[in-house]
Amino acid sequence: MEKIYKRHLITSALPYANGPIHLGHLAGVYVPSDIYTRYLRLKGVEVIHVCGSDEHGVPITLKARNEGLSPQDIVDRYHAINKKAFKDFGISFDIYSRTSSSIHYETASEFFKKLYDEGKFIEKTTEQYFDTEANSFLADRYITGTCPHCNNDSAYGDQCEQCGTSLSPTELINPTSTLSGSKPVLRETRHWYLPLDQYEPWLKKWILEEHKEWKPNVYGQCKSWIDQGLNPRAVSRDLDWGVPVPVENAEGKVLYVWFDAPIGYISATKELTGDWEIYWKNEDTRMVHFIGKDNIVFHCIIFPTMLKAEGTYILPDNVPANEFLNLENDKISTSRNWAVWLHEYLEDFPGKQDVLRYVLCANAPENKDNDFTWKDFQNRNNNELVAILGNFVNRTLVLTNNYYDGKVPAAGGLNDFDKKALAEIKNITGTVERSLENFRFREAVKSAMDLARLGNKYLADSEPWKLIKTDPARVKTIINISVQITANITILCEPFLPFSMKKLRGFLNLEEMDWSLLGNEKLVGEGHLIGKAELLFEKIDDDQIEQQLEKLHKTKKTQEDTMNIAMQKDEITFEEFGKMDIRTATILEAEKVPKTKKLIKMLVDTGIDRRTIISGIAEHYEPAELPGKKVCVLVNLAPRKIKGIESQGMILLSENTDGSLYFIEPGKDAHNGAEVN
Ligand code: MF3
Ligand code: ZN
Repeated sequence: MEKIYKRHLITSALPYANGPIHLGHLAGVYVPSDIYTRYLRLKGVEVIHVCGSDEHGVPITLKARNEGLSPQDIVDRYHAINKKAFKDFGISFDIYSRTSSSIHYETASEFFKKLYDEGKFIEKTTEQYFDTEANSFLADRYITGTCPHCNNDSAYGDQCEQCGTSLSPTELINPTSTLSGSKPVLRETRHWYLPLDQYEPWLKKWILEEHKEWKPNVYGQCKSWIDQGLNPRAVSRDLDWGVPVPVENAEGKVLYVWFDAPIGYISATKELTGDWEIYWKNEDTRMVHFIGKDNIVFHCIIFPTMLKAEGTYILPDNVPANEFLNLENDKISTSRNWAVWLHEYLEDFPGKQDVLRYVLCANAPENKDNDFTWKDFQNRNNNELVAILGNFVNRTLVLTNNYYDGKVPAAGGLNDFDKKALAEIKNITGTVERSLENFRFREAVKSAMDLARLGNKYLADSEPWKLIKTDPARVKTIINISVQITANITILCEPFLPFSMKKLRGFLNLEEMDWSLLGNEKLVGEGHLIGKAELLFEKIDDDQIEQQLEKLHKTKKTQEDTMNIAMQKDEITFEEFGKMDIRTATILEAEKVPKTKKLIKMLVDTGIDRRTIISGIAEHYEPAELPGKKVCVLVNLAPRKIKGIESQGMILLSENTDGSLYFIEPGKDAHNGAEVN
């Protein structure tokens, strides 16, 4: 028997605060969760929707290092950007919290402490790589080396991005620490583990027997994890960014990001309401997690095991995970900058939130990965939103204004045709409801559009513009029914297209109405005055689409751009920089240093003097092409003997990650001896 719940707790995966939100996030998680929550609210169900920034984890510390900022700087930046973008896009969270908040630190610490005190963890000591120069244990991502499978020499400690194999750091050949560039050593370290294996029988029963209704992709992944056998999972890390492990003798240890992040749902609820426990500890609450497919194991196995071990919390009733969205036939990638960023979309298409919401829902990666293309975006806008929904609404508004000065006419006697059309509203509503209840959002939005299709067909078949001369009484009925269909649309489409439905209610002079009124044939009384006809949607032309495509391709980074960009070095002062005397100079003569592969000896005019400089560029330049070239020279570098010749300075070159070299060239008008600073 189906359980009757008193309230809903909807969670959406907390996005990492190390980058902006893109279309993949939206299609996978936030558009469906928002539609679902808005639907529940319209039905008058007690519901809260919680989300926030996931602000821990190694990628955030890496990004901070790369930019020479602190992790807190990074998460402050993206928390603000993402919070605003979600709000402007109409994702109606009841709270958008963050995991660097003090309320979260308390909640996560308490949670850990309780499991610890009750002996729910096991403690293990293992060997892990340690960087003796940086004096720090190394997260998997901080170690690079050669992949044992494909020889890629820039594989990470957790994965080789060339061949896709997942690795453990000890498998890497020639491991190197990215913190200091030194060779790491293995050192013992102690951590706490959640013994998933002990919960296997319970998980089997709870998921595999009692939640057969979960989406096949979700159920399938859970089954395969459980069938493979579960192992204890470490829930702490040696890292200096995160929630400190709240037990004695745990200096330098923090909670593993996937332990603290889902607790973020609890902290967010606490921040929202003092009554948080009715949402988390009451069996009358139905909890639903909206996530992307890469989060399935954490939300279906690990977090539920944490909640079960704690003992006082409810478990999710469903976890409707989506697959991934691709972009123009290629994987969305933050590092390659192959993405459409939400905050940029909102700037480029002001007022068009609903178009994107519609396209992402109609084309959601529900059961398989799917592709977003700008062409499809344009087509769906022009051929569906404008041509079907916008068209019907506009005809109704125009006819009511033209024939009756905007005053809704009374309906006369209904014929079978009218009755059939009105009955169809209820059928369509039922279909939309069933689809939404089963998390089939593509189907739901398609059915919702059927109401506009019905309206168009009703007008086309009844042809009021022909009858207005011959049978004006009949036209009153037709227009009344068209207005009723339009009013029903304002409710039915509200979860999907909240901005446009608000606009439409404005055109019609209507208040927001409950879902329960759907199917009502007299939503708008006779004599009700509607406003002037305005356009609900506008066409999007080829230009706008081409601009987006061009932007996408222009900002795309190639593999080389993103690979192996060296970390920023330690900060120096202005004075330290000022010690370097760099001048523009001209190469006068050049010859290879005998018996060497790489060296070229040059005579250079530095403006101060003429001097000899040796440089390792013979594999990249022929001596003959060098005389006359303008270069930059560090002139006060201490002289060094190379192959018996004294080199008196250094010519500045930039080196690409593939080893190719390029002179730093001053403009051709630069005089020899001009200072570079
Ligand atoms: N930050 C994770 C991701 O983007 C999701 C965290 S969901 C939570 O994949 F449950 F941990 F909060
Ligand atoms: Zn590999």
